[in-house]
Amino acid sequence: MIGNNKAKFVAGNWKMNGDAAQLRTLTSEIVADLGECNNVALFPPNTYLWLVREILRESTMGYGAQNVARADNGAHTGEISASMLVDMGCRYVIVGHSERRHTYGEDDTLIAAKMQCAILSHLCPILCVGETKTQRENGDIFEVITQQLTVGLAHIPFPQHIMIAYEPVWAIGSGKAATPKQIMQMHEVIHKWLAQQANECKIAVLYGGSVNADNADAILSIPQVDGVLVGGSSLKSSEFVAIAKSACAHY
Ligand code: PGA
Repeated sequence: MIGNNKAKFVAGNWKMNGDAAQLRTLTSEIVADLGECNNVALFPPNTYLWLVREILRESTMGYGAQNVARADNGAHTGEISASMLVDMGCRYVIVGHSERRHTYGEDDTLIAAKMQCAILSHLCPILCVGETKTQRENGDIFEVITQQLTVGLAHIPFPQHIMIAYEPVWAIGSGKAATPKQIMQMHEVIHKWLAQQANECKIAVLYGGSVNADNADAILSIPQVDGVLVGGSSLKSSEFVAIAKSACAHY
């Protein structure tokens, strides 16, 4: 588990939203309401990392990027490397988010290379895995998740400083989170798979997909859930703060 207060982890993925003025207000409100909270991390668009860094300077709250390059330097126009993110003070990076997989064609092999770059730069990557609605309906969920974990973590010796986020694609941005039963079942599968790789595996497994202030407590009270990755609700400070406060009440 990340964070010395052992509370469950909360990540706010702002995706490609906001401008400098809006994100300054959002960050300031979150910090003012939460205070010291090293189990919480914010993921702004890259162009606003500097701003979050400036506001979080006196805080233990972390921040990170939503994506990273597959190489650490050189001729990769438009990319930002893991070491550059570290230079910007990032502690975390989201890797293999479903929007990267499905809108930008990232496959497990590319994601594995990104995971390796993050680890080599001592960033904590959050590897996102999850099935589509069709895959779930076809009964392929276990194969899909196992494949994403096996290939995505192929270059990572266990145990490592990483987190996994189970994010069913159909739950992201839909307003319809997975049920506690579905979450518990998939988290069990992921924890079991991780434990098979290393006996002493303490890798946190987060849930993501339409988490909000109303359902956060029920989700965070599932023992197999080590935290949440929040999209839409992380753009409203009151919602996000309520979710983070709920996480602080769960160990
Ligand atoms: P959502 O997004 O909370 O808006 O469903 C979650 C995510 O994409 O990580």
